[in-house]
Amino acid sequence: MSESQADNIILGFDNVSISFGAVTALTQVSFEVPEHEVVAIIGPNGAGKTTALNVINGVYQPTQGTITYKGEVRQGMRPHQAAVQGIARTFQNVALFKGMNTVDNIMTGRNLKMKSNLLMQGLYWGPAQREEIAHRQAVEKIIDFLEIESVRKTIVGRLPFGLQKRVELGRALAAEPDMLLLDEPMAGMNLEEKEDMCRFILDVNEELGTTIVLIEHDMSVVMDISDRVIVLEYGRKISEGKPDAVRNDQKVIDAYLGVPH
Ligand SMILES: Nc1ncnc2c1ncn2[C@@H]1O[C@H](COP(=O)(O)OP(=O)(O)OP(=O)(O)O)[C@@H](O)[C@H]1O
Ligand SMILES: [Mg+2]
Repeated sequence: MSESQADNIILGFDNVSISFGAVTALTQVSFEVPEHEVVAIIGPNGAGKTTALNVINGVYQPTQGTITYKGEVRQGMRPHQAAVQGIARTFQNVALFKGMNTVDNIMTGRNLKMKSNLLMQGLYWGPAQREEIAHRQAVEKIIDFLEIESVRKTIVGRLPFGLQKRVELGRALAAEPDMLLLDEPMAGMNLEEKEDMCRFILDVNEELGTTIVLIEHDMSVVMDISDRVIVLEYGRKISEGKPDAVRNDQKVIDAYLGVPH
């Protein structure tokens, strides 16, 4: 990553706070995400990590502070608008249509890219069919990339959790995002599955240039794949920097790394 590339900030949090009744989930948090980087958010349970992702993709509006995305200050952005502007995400507990198969789940990620609605399909059958074929091809490329051909027709609810996480990544990739938010993408995975997932995430970042913000508890994964790390504790940012610097930061060791989690 060259310095000039790193200067392009795709997302900025400036003094962001958010409260739910008496609970303050984030308190005056500021950080920047440079374009094309892999940024990890770490911290103990309840630190506000998922809340930060929810604020980025418009599920929650900050109580205070500003968010800048692609150079513009965002006002009240909703998840749909965030998606239109190139933000896709996966969820801590996997959000897929459990009764549908892998291909159809990934296809739902193409929704925003589909121009033809039902009426158009009736009127212009040819173009709509061509569009459908193009979407199917895009989905097949993702299936190939994520090495899930063998489960392409399997009902997702029957897949082991690790593979469901992979399908969910596929669904997010189908939207061709500029920024990908991953909430604990390796949770519940064995070592081999984690290694595969790391490889996919790095390939997406390197080959497509997608900016990635991920939450992860496994420090060896964080060290391996992130360009920079943000550490939250009780809703406050307590450290930020290159993985090595953060790992050796006494505040981080005391709050997180030195304690079992
Ligand atoms: N919708 C909500 N309503 C009320 N409180 C909430 C809501 N969302 C989050 N919180 C609270 O905000 C705090 C931060 O939660 P968050 O889910 O962001 O933590 P986290 O860092 O992702 O934790 P974990 O590692 O357990 O996933 C917690 O105290 C949580 O209970
Ligand atoms: Mg969480």
